Amino acid sequence: ATAAGQYDLVVIGGGPGGYVAAIKAAQLGMKTACVEGRGSLGGTCLNVGCIPSKSLLHNSHLYHVAHEEFTKRGIEVTGLKVNLATMMKQKEKSVTGLTKGIEFLLKKNKADYIKGWGKIVNAGEVSVAGLDGTTSTLKTKNIIIATGSEPSPFPGVEIDEKVIVTSTGALSLEKIPESMIVIGGGVIGLELGSVWTRLGSKTTVVEYADAIGAGMDADMAKLFQKTLQKQHMNFKLGTKVISAKKNAAGKVDVVVEPSKGGPRETLTVDVVLLSIGRRPFTQNLGLDKAGVKVDNKGRVVTDHEFKTNVPGIRAIGDVIAGPMLAHKSEEEGIAAVEYIKSGHGHVNYNAIPSVIYTHPEVAWVGLNEAEAKAKGLQYNVGTFPFSANSRAKTMDDADGTIKIISDKKTDKILGAHIIGPGAGEMIAEAVLAIEYGASSEDIARTCHAHPTLSEAFKEACMATYDKAIHF
Ligand code: FAD
Ligand code: NAI
Repeated sequence: ATAAGQYDLVVIGGGPGGYVAAIKAAQLGMKTACVEGRGSLGGTCLNVGCIPSKSLLHNSHLYHVAHEEFTKRGIEVTGLKVNLATMMKQKEKSVTGLTKGIEFLLKKNKADYIKGWGKIVNAGEVSVAGLDGTTSTLKTKNIIIATGSEPSPFPGVEIDEKVIVTSTGALSLEKIPESMIVIGGGVIGLELGSVWTRLGSKTTVVEYADAIGAGMDADMAKLFQKTLQKQHMNFKLGTKVISAKKNAAGKVDVVVEPSKGGPRETLTVDVVLLSIGRRPFTQNLGLDKAGVKVDNKGRVVTDHEFKTNVPGIRAIGDVIAGPMLAHKSEEEGIAAVEYIKSGHGHVNYNAIPSVIYTHPEVAWVGLNEAEAKAKGLQYNVGTFPFSANSRAKTMDDADGTIKIISDKKTDKILGAHIIGPGAGEMIAEAVLAIEYGASSEDIARTCHAHPTLSEAFKEACMATYDKAIHF
């Protein structure tokens, strides 16, 4: 065993939470190490999450548009087909470009990247089983746990990442399945289900709840489902999966029944994607021995400064409570380091956007209508459809709408919900509004360029306290 130097901070996990914390700490002058065991930086997000999924979403969308819409747009192509191997190569290029980029950023900021699996020995010591076979011990004043999450298993469903896959396998299928069942109509199921539907799979989403979108605004969820149905995605809502087993022919038999009980049905498909949520990843981390508390879902328990119950050990990102989103992990990474350095940090949990990167995209921030009601708030709702927006019309891409919820008394924006082209970029305007406490009138009186999609956002704001002009 080799002994390494004394650190101010050792971050365990090199995902968006961990690597951002390491860079920030190094920038603030702390001697910092980031321990990562998967062999490349960027965590779930860059390696098997946000980045590869967005590459496949983008390219499958281009194919879908070429296949289904080019002719009506006056573009005539013959011999159009998918080269899946090339599409996958392009995906890998985007991943390695970015993961290497993070390695460079750590180096540039003089944070050490330690390749191996970290284990907490005590609040001042992390042992590392190096990927090169050596072990070492890092002495440190502070530890941040940023070990992220992994797919939740389904009892009795055996993942082989070939025919019964999690998101990881679904990002690397070697051929386009003729048929596919997606278990769970949440973010992963809808994004990756879209990818394979666009490439030609007959896809059915089986969802336990009565709505898709894992908790999005109810009106928007309904509209979103209709849009996906138009794109040939099928849904079985209010349905639970009993079992999914590989059969002798190499296909998968999926037994389902209505969530409330009723007759069972067996569906046979080429590939099953299991996407019923993710759970914190803390295996072999030594939490037990170090005495770090976890809750009933296995999440590391922290206070608002990201402190665990053990002094000197903090935790951030997917491994603690809150939405499992890369940007949430990043915000917490920076705040946790600032708390260590100066005692002050900031994360506004009311202003964390959610985006589903289908086409059209879905994005929201703040309260949905059911949440506003549950809080007993008096509110106004303003809506504006993209079918009344000139830019969306010119693009012939006008599916979707915007719904703004504002406080009846103060007109402050409480929530914004968008389905439409570019919704994921547009939501930044709403996040900024909420962060700064803007009213819907503040936005409606702000000049927006014409013709742009963002005019629809302005008009939806106008519709909360007055009338929209173009609808
Ligand atoms: P992770 O990214 O999970 O990183 C943790 C890292 O710690 C891992 O690399 C792991 O190998 C390492 N590690 C764990 N234990 C140890 C140990 N003991 N020693 C050393 N290293 C260890 N979020 C978005 O915001 N936008 C998206 O578009 C999006 N798309 C997604 C698509 C998919 C298919 C999936 C699966 C997720 C997606 N997410 C998205 C969620 C996002 O990936 C996570 O929220 C984010 O990666 C969490 O960051 P993290 O740093 O907390 O954890
Ligand atoms: P999710 O929580 O978004 O959705 C899971 C869905 O599965 C829910 O609708 C739930 O009702 C359903 N479900 C649960 N058990 C079921 C069962 N037994 N049978 C049928 N349906 C069942 O989880 P998902 O999609 O796995 O994603 C995990 C996490 O990754 C999410 O928390 C999300 O935040 C993150 N992510 C974010 C993305 C983004 O920001 N664009 C993209 C992909 C993932």
